[in-house]
Amino acid sequence: MNQDTPAVGAPRPRIEGRLKVTGAATYAADVPVPDLAHGWLVTATVSRGRIRDLDVSAALAMPGVLGVLDHRNAPRLNPKAGGFFGPDGSLQLLQDDEIPYAGRPVALVVAETPEQASAAAAAVRVTYDVEAHDLDFRLGHPATRPASTAFGPEADTGDLEAELAASAVVVEERYRTPEESHCAMEPHAATTWWDGDDLHVLDSNQGAFSVSEVLAALWSVDRERVHVRSEHVGGGFGGKGPCGPQVILGSMAARAFGRPVRVALTRAQVFETTSSRPPTDQLMTIGADADGRLRAIHHRAAYALSPLAEYIEWCTEQAKILYTAPAIRTQLTAVPLDVLPPASMRGPGATPGSFALESAMDELAERLDLDPLELRLRNEPTVTPATGRPFSTRRLVSCLREGSRRFGWAARDRRPRSRREGPLLIGTGLAATSFSAGVFPSTASITAEADGTFTVAIGASDIGTGARTALTAVAADALGVGTERIRLHLGDSDLGMAWGAGGSRGTTSWSFAIGKAAAELRARLADPVRPVTATVDTTTMIDYQPARERQTYSAVFAEVAVDPATGEVRVRRLLGMFAVGRVINPLLARSQVVGGMIMGLSMALHEESVRDPGTGRQANGDFAGYHIAAHADVPDVEAEFVPDYEPQDPLGLNGLGEIGTAGTAAAIANAVWHATGRRQRTLPIRLDRVLEPGVTG
Ligand code: MOS
Repeated sequence: MNQDTPAVGAPRPRIEGRLKVTGAATYAADVPVPDLAHGWLVTATVSRGRIRDLDVSAALAMPGVLGVLDHRNAPRLNPKAGGFFGPDGSLQLLQDDEIPYAGRPVALVVAETPEQASAAAAAVRVTYDVEAHDLDFRLGHPATRPASTAFGPEADTGDLEAELAASAVVVEERYRTPEESHCAMEPHAATTWWDGDDLHVLDSNQGAFSVSEVLAALWSVDRERVHVRSEHVGGGFGGKGPCGPQVILGSMAARAFGRPVRVALTRAQVFETTSSRPPTDQLMTIGADADGRLRAIHHRAAYALSPLAEYIEWCTEQAKILYTAPAIRTQLTAVPLDVLPPASMRGPGATPGSFALESAMDELAERLDLDPLELRLRNEPTVTPATGRPFSTRRLVSCLREGSRRFGWAARDRRPRSRREGPLLIGTGLAATSFSAGVFPSTASITAEADGTFTVAIGASDIGTGARTALTAVAADALGVGTERIRLHLGDSDLGMAWGAGGSRGTTSWSFAIGKAAAELRARLADPVRPVTATVDTTTMIDYQPARERQTYSAVFAEVAVDPATGEVRVRRLLGMFAVGRVINPLLARSQVVGGMIMGLSMALHEESVRDPGTGRQANGDFAGYHIAAHADVPDVEAEFVPDYEPQDPLGLNGLGEIGTAGTAAAIANAVWHATGRRQRTLPIRLDRVLEPGVTG
């Protein structure tokens, strides 16, 4: 075995790229299955109450209809099924007559064709005993409670009140971000069938193994009897992390009707039945000396959730990490309301949290008449501010300095409204960010075949990220062979326990397992017997409390042009410098962080789920009403990586799935202030918000 050039570090296109662009890659709703029936959801039109009557007689009489499942006849699910936080009521579909949020599935119509199922679903008549709902999300809502600290404790260091009192300047402002939807390109879909007590599922998700665990719990069957395959997935952004309604309802119908059943959600059903990023309401207080040295950071934040399931939108994490200050206090609170249960959306917590922190830092720089870049450099910590833990690699200053050089930041006049081009107001802004990194357990098997090739099996997910391509390179280098000798299988729960595509930890966790399996296999290759397989489960090999704080970092720079007549904001330049540990594949890594920055741009300017206060239903739950940045909204995006290496990882990796999104909204909002002189503390930065008094003219 030999290999001239390492595969890790080389820019290579996606292995499955040709399959995807030619339409040969099959997704969860694409695979032909004999005798397939189709399920169609009926969803609640009220936000709180009970089903009074559900009349299925007209639907049952329609052509091709096999039947209707609702709370009266649906198979019973195990009420204890859940996940990390214990039992999860959002999974308990069709189990009772209660309506906990608008869009809750109340029935599934099953028919021979999707058209027949859809037509019959429209004929199901549901009436409700409506109860008053509460969607009045805000910081300080009477139902507010402390958020779970399962991801880490709150910060409370130093004497906050004394430091604020001693500060020359104190910024205290409130920032709001709306409910947002993940909007993966492929709507959620599943094809399910039972073979005795074995459940087979083709599903669009971010972790086939974890979905198999949830399904096994819901159905009270052994995990090994649930077979989830997710070979190609058209994006997730967190919205396909949970076990979705398509697979829960599909598996119920397949059992009830004894046939394979496919449930493919419409775009509108994805909006109303899957999950969203919760709205946030944040109060940021920062005190500093006249020279810009921080004395105190106080970050109070609230987010909405459903009483059905615990959830953490960890907005306050960066306040503990980014800047040194003698006093840091964080208070994260959750407000249970009659809302769609939220799920992580790209950069959960960090993305809305950084909007608040990095906007407030920009406001502080303004008050101090200090360059916002210099303000950040002056407060660069030597140890993790809130905990005193040493940092692992931390290349934030490199990101700031290199980004500033490439962007031409030094030439900036920091006075607002100081640049015009004809009628347009031009401004620039920046933000710094961090995002947590680490490794979770996974299982990898590698087989040395008789023909000299290697089969690598890992329950990883490639949701469009390029994980398949990255892991092939990792395996090739670990085995000391060229990538053409690697055959990689992923997206299958039968391949064993594995972390999903989430938390920016997929590739790191899977690479760790592949590296360990390769080392074990190589130790056995002297024996000529083939095939020979090494299987490694990394659960006991992971340091869950690494000695040093492990984070990725970025600096984002934006230039905007604002039309004071219309309020239109155009982002003209966007540049991100990233420190993410070692980069496996620069081509795909760039694609990830550029995608993240575009998502941040979209958050800054466009994305907002609007709910009708009367019904609580989303008024814009489709792609006509929920605006996502389109090509015309996105300028050339520049993204580069600073040299970096994570010493706590065998390959030097940290992760890059989410860091691109965090920071971008604040950089754009700060640029809009610089252009117009008016702060934008509520996202998205809509035309009407730009046109508030003080901007025009
Ligand atoms: Mo993610 S939002 O970690 O799937």
